[in-house]
Amino acid sequence: MALSCEALSPGLIREIEKIPGPHKVFAAIEDRLCYSYDGTFKTGVPGLVFKPTTTEQVSRLLSLASEAGVPVIPRGAGTNLSGGSVPVDGGIVLCTADMSRVLEISPADSLAAVEPGVITARFQRTVEAQGLFYPPDPASSEFCTLGGNIAEGSGGPRGLKYGTTRDYVLGLEAVLASGEVIKAGGRTIKNVTGYDLARLLVGSEGTLAVVTKAYLRLLPKPAYKRTMLAAFPALDDAGEAIARIIGLGTLPTTLEIMDGFAIRAVENFLGIGLPAWAQAMLLIEVDGHREAVESQIPGLEMACLGAGAKEIRVANDEDEAQDLWRARRSVSPAVTQLAPNKITEDATVPRSQVPEMIRRLQGIRDRYDLPLVIYGHAGDGNLHPNIAADKDDAELMKRVERAIEEIFEVALDLGGTLSGEHGIGLLKRPYLGMELGPAGLEVTRRIKSALDPKNILNPGKII
Ligand code: LAC
Ligand code: ZN
Repeated sequence: MALSCEALSPGLIREIEKIPGPHKVFAAIEDRLCYSYDGTFKTGVPGLVFKPTTTEQVSRLLSLASEAGVPVIPRGAGTNLSGGSVPVDGGIVLCTADMSRVLEISPADSLAAVEPGVITARFQRTVEAQGLFYPPDPASSEFCTLGGNIAEGSGGPRGLKYGTTRDYVLGLEAVLASGEVIKAGGRTIKNVTGYDLARLLVGSEGTLAVVTKAYLRLLPKPAYKRTMLAAFPALDDAGEAIARIIGLGTLPTTLEIMDGFAIRAVENFLGIGLPAWAQAMLLIEVDGHREAVESQIPGLEMACLGAGAKEIRVANDEDEAQDLWRARRSVSPAVTQLAPNKITEDATVPRSQVPEMIRRLQGIRDRYDLPLVIYGHAGDGNLHPNIAADKDDAELMKRVERAIEEIFEVALDLGGTLSGEHGIGLLKRPYLGMELGPAGLEVTRRIKSALDPKNILNPGKII
């Protein structure tokens, strides 16, 4: 990793330090290095790290950076999988992790008001203690922040039934590159006043504004759930089971797939008794009223057995269910152990195309002779082909790049998209035009320059 980085002027650093606190400013190299990476293999050392606790501090920082023309890279917990929070060209990392208060939980309005640095799983547990439910559940939920989820438009397993972060953002307070504070949307479920700026900011990856407060929609907590695992001798059998399950006409909460490589990687990592013989497993959860949930289990079992499942386990209690989810959430860390680097894609296809996508991914794996692991949110078409890679192995990386481009081509060919939930960031930026085309790219550029004319907010990301 290059240690050198563009130094910020001492005058600007002094101005930033003078912003009324409490906040933190880190200028020492050992501190800045801690903010030089995210969940990808991309790195870059920032010139300064600023950790605010109030909207006013964010506003002041951005207006100073704007005047000086210095890049600002917004960051939550840095679990990003597309390189979006890496300060590749230096600048100031604006880390919102210390803005971590749940400001309000309103059962009457079915919403919560939060600051961006709240950890997602903690927020979920907090609202669940009050009988409420916040469905978006990225695999990194124990570490990632709600602000990061909003910036990335994050999804997760429950996207199948409940949608993603985007569907739960009612309103935002955000700071523009100029330092001006805007409000978009609000506390109401219905709101068609003007353009839908809140929806524009969700998934804008820190390139348009910095979110400082969000109103998030809450649901009543489901009364009951069951979780089951089905193991198959072939990946195609699991694809067939997915088609049969969707054909049942009742939507499970989650329908996750892990291929044999993913199963064995997790089993080596956790040793929790996954069916290591299998070439694929599905992790299925159903929630709702007890009777409705129980009545769905036999149909799901039949669908899996009919498609060739050789083993089915239905979790008997919450602990067993949590073990299955721990296995699924550990795929990414487990694959990380296989090689120095890991590339996690999230190409997404219409749900009906998942079996075909799986077949084509297997073809790409064989043709390029790559350690390519397939897992993901099969129910909503959002697959995660993961390639165990080594960025210092030029020959391997050439094959990886060709495979990735082909994955994108296949996803688009099947009517899908480059990214279902991880964002474009740095890694997918070269491919954006494949999906948007010249006119779409131009509209994106115009929106970016309308909100951030000096291009200081997370420059070089998305476009
Ligand atoms: C997951 C991350 C990679 O679903 O999105 O595990
Ligand atoms: Zn995912």
